[in-house]
Amino acid sequence: MASIIAGTGIGVPPNVVTNADLSRIMDTSDEWIRTRSGVVERRFVDPGVGASDLGVEAGRMAMGDAGVGAVDAIVTATMTPDYQNPGIAGLVQDRLGLGPVPAFDLRQQCSGFLYGLDLADALISTDRAGSVLVIGAEVHAGYLPWGDTWDIVLGHTDRAPTPEEYRRNTEHRAWSVLFGDGAGAMVLKKDPGSGGFSRARLHTDGAHFQLISVPGLGSVNRPYASADQLSADRHLPVMDGRGLYRAAVRLLPELILEVLAKESLDVSDLDLVVAHQANERILEGVRKSLGVDAEVVPSNIDRWANTTAGTLPILFHELRAAGRISPGMLVCFAAFGAGAHWGAMLYRVPG
Ligand code: ACO
Repeated sequence: MASIIAGTGIGVPPNVVTNADLSRIMDTSDEWIRTRSGVVERRFVDPGVGASDLGVEAGRMAMGDAGVGAVDAIVTATMTPDYQNPGIAGLVQDRLGLGPVPAFDLRQQCSGFLYGLDLADALISTDRAGSVLVIGAEVHAGYLPWGDTWDIVLGHTDRAPTPEEYRRNTEHRAWSVLFGDGAGAMVLKKDPGSGGFSRARLHTDGAHFQLISVPGLGSVNRPYASADQLSADRHLPVMDGRGLYRAAVRLLPELILEVLAKESLDVSDLDLVVAHQANERILEGVRKSLGVDAEVVPSNIDRWANTTAGTLPILFHELRAAGRISPGMLVCFAAFGAGAHWGAMLYRVPG
């Protein structure tokens, strides 16, 4: 028996940071960021707020939307947990008061929510759970190397950055301008009807590990955290932007066509692709390969930037709220990201 999306929710922080705000602390411009990535603004949490806080907000909204007070399992996808360990699943479970149900984190970065959907669907279709709360939540603010210039970005001061602050921020501009904080959630539940999820096609190729990774603060380092690592910036992401772009625009359309073919469908059957929001140029590449427009592959990266595991549920929630999801539609969820992990999953909207 298939699972359906019974409710959705989001948890997004209040602090809006525009491209112009970023150009105050580094050598960048609204024009560069907008044309290379599609990002216009992003949101960031206040200090002390973690991924679990946004996840709880999103989860509570999704459960309210689904009209359920309990679930049989919780899956939280995040690459930015509140603590090195344990993950955020237990924090979310406790704060939502969901009792001692199984709750676990997935570490599949941009594809984390998609892996979570497939896992939740598997739990439901094998009768191990009747309902599952799936959350994608990220707080990237902690990664961003902006130090005291956060006060400038957030408009708390009129001072200019020092030359050293400006140099350091500029050194990391290629990746730091692309991310924002945010969470989204879905409640999946068993449904006897004809709609729902089909089995996902999930892929991993560890040979692409270097496309984007954080080299420090792991068990290959002894000690795993040290002042030397921090001063060498090994706690910050290293990204091969062009390599990621090339891999994503090739592999995402390939996989979307593959899941369609598996169900004896083709692109003309697709109503909507809810794709990971890494970069508007990647989305343009996907549209071009599939021969469809932005109605079919929509984006909201302009307002939220890349929220990693948060992008799929935030976008789907917004599309639902805008009345863009109707009964009988064929939706494809698709993502590509660090690992490298990627995947695609079809969903027939019930009703
Ligand atoms: N502002 C202004 N100039 C910048 C910035 C910035 N924020 N960042 C880089 N530049 C400069 C570079 O220094 C370089 O200058 P130079 O020519 O004088 O040396 C120039 O812009 C071009 O830099 P490239 O890195 O070659 O820029 P590119 O055209 O490849 O665009 C980008 C970079 C946007 C990251 C692109 O490679 C891309 O879209 N990659 C996809 C990766 C991605 O979206 N990752 C998101 C996270 S991973 C995930 O979610 C899957």
